[in-house]
Amino acid sequence: MEADTEHLRQRFEQAGQGHVFAAWPELAERARRRLARQLAAVDLGLLAPMRDAIAALSSPPPRKLAPAPAFALADEKFPYLLSDAARAVAPAGERALARGEVAVILVAGGQGTRLGFDGPKGCFPILPLSGMTLFEVFARKLRRAGRDYGRIPPLYVMVGNHNEQATTAFFEQHGFFGLNPDDVRFFAQSELPGLDDSGKLVMAGPDALWTAPDGHGGVVSALHQKGMLADMRARGVRYASYIQVDNPQIPVADPAFLGLHISEGAEVSLKVVRKTDPAEKVGIFCLDDGVPCIVEYTEFTPEDSRRSDENGRLVWWQGSIAVHVFGIEFLQRLADTGTQLPLHAARKKAGEAEVWKFERFVFDTIPLAARVVCLEVPREEQFLPLKNPDGPFGPEGVRQALQRYWKKALRLARPALPEPPAIEVDPLLCENARELAAALEDRKLDATGPLRLEP
Ligand code: UTP
Repeated sequence: MEADTEHLRQRFEQAGQGHVFAAWPELAERARRRLARQLAAVDLGLLAPMRDAIAALSSPPPRKLAPAPAFALADEKFPYLLSDAARAVAPAGERALARGEVAVILVAGGQGTRLGFDGPKGCFPILPLSGMTLFEVFARKLRRAGRDYGRIPPLYVMVGNHNEQATTAFFEQHGFFGLNPDDVRFFAQSELPGLDDSGKLVMAGPDALWTAPDGHGGVVSALHQKGMLADMRARGVRYASYIQVDNPQIPVADPAFLGLHISEGAEVSLKVVRKTDPAEKVGIFCLDDGVPCIVEYTEFTPEDSRRSDENGRLVWWQGSIAVHVFGIEFLQRLADTGTQLPLHAARKKAGEAEVWKFERFVFDTIPLAARVVCLEVPREEQFLPLKNPDGPFGPEGVRQALQRYWKKALRLARPALPEPPAIEVDPLLCENARELAAALEDRKLDATGPLRLEP
């Protein structure tokens, strides 16, 4: 065994992980090199935090929770009005967009296990009439931002090793959906190894460790390590609008949300929707001993989740939809100080066996920020994530919810028009019900058949 490999073996043995070399004597030269390369990249210093993350599941940290402040909706009647404060500062967001100070981060590195689609989730045909894919929906939203503000924000797509090739090929095959290829960057997140019940690193085969993507929170280190932060800074970007690939109704760069972030001097901002079902499985934005954070629904007892205030509204109402604005200076500070987001453990199938998988969550940036701003947005307008093969968050559920929303919007924009049997609004046309009437101008519409509204 060469000196380098011997050193590697010693490191793993000292950490109680010598078993990863068990098959070494039988491995061919190429397999040895591959395994050695993979092992050399493993940070054994993570073993202790991994074990801590497993232990934290059975004894969660003590909390001193209180509801956190948020800019709540001004009006909960359709078509819903954002908080007065948010609307007032939208021009600050528009200016930032017009100056090219905003980039969009689209996280698409997940495995999409629940949906079970063969391919990256962004390639899923989601719109009800055209079958437009999620990636195209976001590209068209970006082009609309370019039309409205004079600049198309650059797009940074986080992928995983498992879908990087398929994702970049999909954009190339479709001519980047009309975006400038120079303004679209793909970057792969890292992977983390898994542990078995005795705390040993799990192998995927004799010559390979089992690994899995390090969670959406991996975006923080990946942006830095893959040169994306530097790329943003070189372009003069100051704010990153962070969205998930599964939610076709989310604005790519919401001027009111950006404006609030900027005018409030926030380092991290988040969007929430009002939780109406206490059992809904979303993280809750709260203060823990005065520090803003997201607390997982699993940490609330059913009684706690159901608690309501004097107006009969849920006390823990702020359901996070995993949409953020990040200050670039803040992300750079995390990089410069080598700050790592905490690890979270979960059970995951690895072949026949179950293993411990580890992830970082993007919302763990919230307690690290000097200032955090929270904006309530209308659920049916901005939160329709594609997660499952069926049910409300399955393809049919999402398509039906989209159609319900846009049929209501059309009724408002054109009260005299009969309801079409089906409807789709091109993301290039407009974003929400408030904008539809103006976007249609005095166009003649025929609603006797399926109605596709395009620019
Ligand atoms: P989810 O947590 O819903 O995971 O991701 P998922 O991979 O889409 O689906 P399941 O849980 O395997 O069924 C929310 C968003 O975060 C991204 C996903 O691509 C999605 O946009 N994500 C998640 C990453 O980019 N990397 C990850 O490691 C995990």
